Amino acid sequence: MYETWEQLEEEIKDCKKCKLCQNRTNIVLGTGDRNADIMFIGEGPGADEDREGEPFVGKAGKLMNEALIGLGIKRDKLYIANIVKCRPPGNRNPEADETIACMDYLRSQVMLVKPKVIVLLGSVALKNILGEEYQITASRGKWVEKKGIRYMPTWHPAALLRDEAKKIEFWNDLKEVRDWKLEIINT
Ligand code: URA
Ligand code: SF4
Repeated sequence: MYETWEQLEEEIKDCKKCKLCQNRTNIVLGTGDRNADIMFIGEGPGADEDREGEPFVGKAGKLMNEALIGLGIKRDKLYIANIVKCRPPGNRNPEADETIACMDYLRSQVMLVKPKVIVLLGSVALKNILGEEYQITASRGKWVEKKGIRYMPTWHPAALLRDEAKKIEFWNDLKEVRDWKLEIINT
């Protein structure tokens, strides 16, 4: 575990802890407010993210941004990261050796940001954070509370590209998250 952002950045900058280091252009550590109440966790960088070094800047990211704007959630008030920080070739799912190798970085990010709410984007995020027994189809839209953090599993934004019904569910799940924030302000 890394106790400061400086340590974390120093450690990750030439990381070769897994085979995903071989094809990456940029390591995509995360972006946004390092003191955010709400953290989003995706799967791993795609081609656009690999090129730019920032999470969710491609097609799926744009869809997510539209939902955020529509709901009045400011992207720069969130902290956004991924399970793995380097792009899996051809956007395949990250493999177990890769997620295990990379997990210390994400754990440290969660420890440093101290979010109250974590949005889990898709099955890879859900299973790696809450456990293999969780299924995205059964879990999405339902709060899970663990060790003082509230988790909201929802669809990965890439899944929305192919499915209008999922767009509505995604929107509703993020609305829950937004309204959680209103709730703590009003009480
Ligand atoms: N998909 C992800 O899971 N993360 C990104 O950063 C981009 C696309
Ligand atoms: Fe290191 Fe994570 Fe990149 Fe693997 S995916 S090389 S563990 S930063």
